[in-house]
Amino acid sequence: MTIEATANEQFLADYRPYPFDLKQVALEFDLAPAATRVLAALDFQPRESGADLVLDGGKQIKLLSLTIDGAVPDAAHVSRDDETLTIAAAALPSGPFRLETEVQIDPSANTAFEGLYLSGGMFCTQCEAEGFRHITFYPDRPDVMTTFRVLVRSDQPVLLSNGNPVRQEPGLAEWHDPWPKPSYLFALVAGDLVAVSDHFTTRSGRDVALNVWVRPGDQDRAGFAMESLIKSMKWDEDAYGREYDLDVFNIVAVDDFNMGAMENKGLNIFNSKLVLASPDTATDADYERIESVIAHEYFHNWTGNRITCRDWFQLCLKEGLTVFRDQQFTADMRSAAVKRISDVQSLRARQFREDQGPLAHPPRPDHYEEINNFYTATVYEKGAEVIGMLKRLVGDDGYRKSLDLYFQRHDGDAATIEDWLQVFEDATGRDLTQFKRWYTDAGTPRLKMAEDWGDGRLTLRFTQNTPPTPGQPDKPARVIPISVGLIGPNGDEVLPSQILEMTEASQSFSFDGLGARPVVSALRGFSAPVILEREIDDATRAFLLAHDSDPFARWEAGRDLALSALLQLAQGNMAGDDYIAAIGQLIADENADPAFRALCLNLPSEEEIATRLSARGVVPDPDAIHAARTDLARRIAETHEALLSNLYRLMAVPGAYSPDADAAARRSLRIAVLGLLSRIDGGDRAEVLFGTAGNMTERMAALVCLIRRGRGQTALRLLEEEFGDNRLVMDKWFMIQPMVAPVAESVQIAQTLAKRKDFDWKNPNRFRALLGGLAANHAGFHRADGAGYAFTADWLMKMDRANPQIAARMSTAFETWTRYDAGRREKALAALQRMAAMEGISRNLREMVSRMIA
Ligand code: PHE
Ligand code: ZN
Repeated sequence: MTIEATANEQFLADYRPYPFDLKQVALEFDLAPAATRVLAALDFQPRESGADLVLDGGKQIKLLSLTIDGAVPDAAHVSRDDETLTIAAAALPSGPFRLETEVQIDPSANTAFEGLYLSGGMFCTQCEAEGFRHITFYPDRPDVMTTFRVLVRSDQPVLLSNGNPVRQEPGLAEWHDPWPKPSYLFALVAGDLVAVSDHFTTRSGRDVALNVWVRPGDQDRAGFAMESLIKSMKWDEDAYGREYDLDVFNIVAVDDFNMGAMENKGLNIFNSKLVLASPDTATDADYERIESVIAHEYFHNWTGNRITCRDWFQLCLKEGLTVFRDQQFTADMRSAAVKRISDVQSLRARQFREDQGPLAHPPRPDHYEEINNFYTATVYEKGAEVIGMLKRLVGDDGYRKSLDLYFQRHDGDAATIEDWLQVFEDATGRDLTQFKRWYTDAGTPRLKMAEDWGDGRLTLRFTQNTPPTPGQPDKPARVIPISVGLIGPNGDEVLPSQILEMTEASQSFSFDGLGARPVVSALRGFSAPVILEREIDDATRAFLLAHDSDPFARWEAGRDLALSALLQLAQGNMAGDDYIAAIGQLIADENADPAFRALCLNLPSEEEIATRLSARGVVPDPDAIHAARTDLARRIAETHEALLSNLYRLMAVPGAYSPDADAAARRSLRIAVLGLLSRIDGGDRAEVLFGTAGNMTERMAALVCLIRRGRGQTALRLLEEEFGDNRLVMDKWFMIQPMVAPVAESVQIAQTLAKRKDFDWKNPNRFRALLGGLAANHAGFHRADGAGYAFTADWLMKMDRANPQIAARMSTAFETWTRYDAGRREKALAALQRMAAMEGISRNLREMVSRMIA
């Protein structure tokens, strides 16, 4: 690798269509670990005369032969650089022609897991975003779509690719995908695999064979993934009228995978942690995540595959929409209220954090250096929020009509955000010019709300303001849908939820004819991804926590109460009595959903407290935050000990483990209670639970408590003895230790773990477990002496040489560095500069680090 001195910036404004149509593609693979041969026949049709044929293709590809309509072109007309192969226009016929190439690649040397690689002896591919160019020479861009015929020769027993099977013989398989697709949706798998199989009959009567392929021995852990797939297929028919369009749908689990999962046409490839689950190895959270990611990838078949993206700037067109759809799915399968609250929690933890720092970017960026750095919370989660707002503004019917029109108008297209918005304008007659700012502008708007009361009239005055983000100093006002309800002094709702549409920088809305001054419940359901700032005292918050009919707003009131106490405590003031009293009432409320009560009981994370403090202009002190949170949790436990002990007994789930939502809800409350009680019982309950629980959910929860109490050693050892050869369980084992360890020990624990033989750091899950575990220990990672920063930087540099995508993604541990005190900033900056100066740094990591230093 060489240092790339020149920036490789790509700009949205530079988009040009590809000058050739690609009519069809035939590929032949002769698989061998170190020397795989790929024959490609591409049928091109020029769209304009005089254009050179530029194909993407990395320098690792060895070109063995190249012909045009069977003839070898003059060598002077063929040129290569590190990233492309060009055939000069002079060597091309003016009409249709066939380009044939034969190349050789080395999957065994591919540690970046991009293109064709080996995972535990099995061949597999990852092509999004630009992996196909590591397989063969090709116009590797999403707006070039065509049909693929794929022949695979290999001695591996199972040979899979996209589309429908044409031929299966020992050592050979042929697949044909009738649906035109871009190269990023190509996939190939060859390995020793077994399937859990089922089938699904679509609403028009097509029988689809379904397979979840796993390694021999893992079959008994693939059933839940299959159930989730069948539910997803049914849901997309019912909710969106979308039917599956091939004879087979294959899912493959692989152990080495950079991301969660991938929606390749008819052949989804999954990180094994998002497929494999059994009660003794997976937690409730794992089950829920598997269900939602299986759904997500399946839903891409329409939102992503049948309608794809014109270019990578439009990534949120498929990702925002598909996240929105998987959120709707989970809301339907489980508790909608709980789902909404957890989505907001993770939006705030990941996307607000991103938006407030040097990596802020709009859901649709207009420039990038490395597209893999833009698979972010902003593109995914904020992209989904934007769609939620659109739906709120046009209503359920308007949304349905718009989506029908989108599928009808753009099926088979590589579309843009402009196309998407146009559909809504045409279907509903609404002007979305201002709304589009949500796609083009970065940053989280601050929404201030003030109240005026007199003569039976309540006036709400809103002001919006979005702080500057890199490259975007001034932000015009956006349209913000604000859902508001009014609650009378006796707790009854006097005005049910309605949407106020704010379009100006400041704007007032009045409500007349009110008998007594109501309490305002604002931003119900989190109707817009903004930070609401209102003057409200703890008594009003407690009132909302007791009476609000909107579950999100109710939870939010409790959250604000907790935060208000924590922010005080973290700054050395006494606080928390109001919160402790209010939470006591809530946990005693037997009518409330246990999962909801659990969400209310879980204190905001230290990261969230730091983010809030810094949004208010206070420099967060990680140690003080940690102490404040620990102290508040202990006081809750002391005050409500009797109530909590009772609840702990009450919420035990009798009988065999089932991952269903109700059982999971009871366990989540029980675990939240255990977390509090273990602050005062020395960890005794946790020790009992660890020894008796028959499922990983409770064992993990107990382990967290034990480690926190400094008595995790035995449990850790037992877990290792039992699951030492189970990668997924050991990932948890690696993650939890640096994450939960006492602040002073976390870095040292990470260092010790990193020396173990089974710290197989090239495996992305294992690397993420250890480094991500440390990064999740807020006070540990941000240790004042900079040891957390230095350790992380060392490993990111090491990883960058093997797998730049993973190094770049994990570097976001540093994205908040500017908000801390001068001492910490100096040490974080030193770590960032050390990375920036690394010889041979990848484009991925270099872009991230330079954005963070800028
Ligand atoms: N497109 C995948 C998804 O979100 C994510 C992904 C991106 C996977 C890039 C691999 C590589 O569903
Ligand atoms: Zn996706």
